[in-house]
Amino acid sequence: MKYKKIGDILILDNIPAEDDLSQLASKHNVKTIMKINHIQGTKREPNYEILYGFKTETVNKENKCLFKLDLSKVMWSKGNTNERLRIAELVRDGETVLDMFAGIGYFSIPISVHSNANEVISIEINPNSYYYLNENINLNKCKNVTPVLGDCLIETPKYKADRIVMGYVKTTHHYLKVAVNSLNKGGIIHYHETVPSKLMQTRPISRIRQACENRDVELLKINKIKKYAPGVEHVVIDALID
Ligand SMILES: C[S@@+](CC[C@H](N)C(=O)[O-])C[C@H]1O[C@@H](n2cnc3c(N)ncnc32)[C@H](O)[C@@H]1O
Repeated sequence: MKYKKIGDILILDNIPAEDDLSQLASKHNVKTIMKINHIQGTKREPNYEILYGFKTETVNKENKCLFKLDLSKVMWSKGNTNERLRIAELVRDGETVLDMFAGIGYFSIPISVHSNANEVISIEINPNSYYYLNENINLNKCKNVTPVLGDCLIETPKYKADRIVMGYVKTTHHYLKVAVNSLNKGGIIHYHETVPSKLMQTRPISRIRQACENRDVELLKINKIKKYAPGVEHVVIDALID
């Protein structure tokens, strides 16, 4: 049986026979068992079933950071664990970082915990995610994270940053122009896209180049995060923009 443990909640891919559930809960030392069918809409909200127990809020520890979240309200992607740490480790002392789709602080919290960034500005549109973003800022004692509730298209132009994280995979390219306009000269963008495998080397970087118009773009890395669907990859492009 395939499962994931997030804090003290077990997430199953399939529904087992009901009398197995209490055994399963005690074997994995969890209070709740859920099935998450899919993540829906712009705000990336879970469509879920509770199979055992009732508590859907938990605290998940990852990369020495604490993430409080309610799995009936916000998403958690186990497949992005390495990427969340990779970005935090790239941040240089004194940088201003803009986290455009901040969620509950998936990137903002590890950046604040593991780097010496001057400021992390975290923009999130979903009030439930924004609530947990604030909880996680407090839980991890982050002093340099500024949470902003709102739409990236409207909020991003109010800031300038040395590094911009675009950790969203639905129509992320629609936000590239505002991101580029807020990126300081010589800054770095981490642009996420779900892309057919055969276009992985070309489509995301050409979209970045298009958004940059007259600015020079240097492709630093194409990082494959995970398989998103058959023949479709979730990738992140690191690009330096002059
Ligand atoms: C859930 S995160 C993606 C997961 C994350 N990359 C990780 O490592 O697990 C994407 C977030 O972007 C937010 N979002 C979507 N559109 C937005 C917009 N226009 N402005 C601000 N936030 C937005 C969603 O509400 C969601 O919380």
